[in-house]
Amino acid sequence: MNSNKKIRGACITGIGCYVPEKVLTNQDLEKMVDTSDEWIVTRTGIKERRIAAENEAASDLAYHASMDALKKAGVKGRDLDQIIVATATSDMIFPSTACLLQDRLGSKNSAAYDVTAACSGFIYGISMAHSMILTGKAEKILVVGSEVLSSMTDYTDRKTCVLFGDGAGAVVMEPCEAGKGVLATYMRSDGSYTDLLYKPGGGSRMPLTPERLKEGQQYIHMKGDGLFKYAVKAMVSAARKTAKDAGLTTEDVDYLIPHQANIRIIEGVRKRLKLKKEQVIVNIDRIGNTSSASIPIAWCEYERNHPGKISGGDLVMLVAFGGGLTWGAVLYRK
Ligand code: UT7
Repeated sequence: MNSNKKIRGACITGIGCYVPEKVLTNQDLEKMVDTSDEWIVTRTGIKERRIAAENEAASDLAYHASMDALKKAGVKGRDLDQIIVATATSDMIFPSTACLLQDRLGSKNSAAYDVTAACSGFIYGISMAHSMILTGKAEKILVVGSEVLSSMTDYTDRKTCVLFGDGAGAVVMEPCEAGKGVLATYMRSDGSYTDLLYKPGGGSRMPLTPERLKEGQQYIHMKGDGLFKYAVKAMVSAARKTAKDAGLTTEDVDYLIPHQANIRIIEGVRKRLKLKKEQVIVNIDRIGNTSSASIPIAWCEYERNHPGKISGGDLVMLVAFGGGLTWGAVLYRK
């Protein structure tokens, strides 16, 4: 390894996103299950979410978001060294969605692999890309969060179908001067709580049979209240630990971009971290919970709608929590 490469940072040079055209509103859901706009807005903060078209899979959404990010970074697909796709809804179990994306982007010189960490997948992906760039293993990495959660949502189950949406976000990461870009990352897991959020069917434990399809094993199973309790605590501790690892505190943070699972979780985290409402980037009302895609979509939309608002030197904290359980954070200096 070239010793010069040790003293560099890893920066995001382009951020892109894509959401499908179809909008599923709370009013639409009122016609499908026993729910109400009032319940959904009060309990979750969601008003509408996007749903992929019949022929749109995770790699398709990822492709659009990636093209947006590559264009903004001024990087060509063939220049990428690595493609990391965070997804829980890959096109197929294998090959990876990253390989399908690699082909469409013409990234002939790139390694490509998926990360499965549910809603924390984008944080895990950024963390891996950061390490790869710092060690000199790679120069240009595409990190994508892409989900078609509608493909494993039971639209007769009001406890889950009101929450999830589809979409993708992507970033290009490249070396930059030390002290900029990713300052610290944090990743944790606790597999003893698998049953709080999982999709049992379709893997080697439970291959899908007509009986299991009838039982609904192909769908997301979730214990929302158990997750809720864990989520706020885990996200707050991840943010604090990450700030501390960078020699800072959460009071130094200018913007928080949390995983968009529930506005009440986001508010709980915001209050405990003593941040003002305007410091927290939220789009759950329009996009719902898109798992690994939620943070990059929220960031990308914010940059598009408020160009230059997050300016040079600002500190941005990304924090997520999800199935696994998994959680983690990234502290980023713009
Ligand atoms: O993405 C990362 C991981 N995901 C999360 O972190 C999700 C965390 N959990 C949550 O966001 C919340 O727990 C939910 C939004 C899923 C549920 O909110 P809650 O306040 O925890 O509601 P609950 O599950 O305790 O249900 C309260 C009541 C129940 O009725 P009873 O038993 O009290 O009569 C539910 O049957 O609300 C009922 N309910 C609904 N009513 C109308 C549940 N879903 C609905 C619905 N419409 N869609």
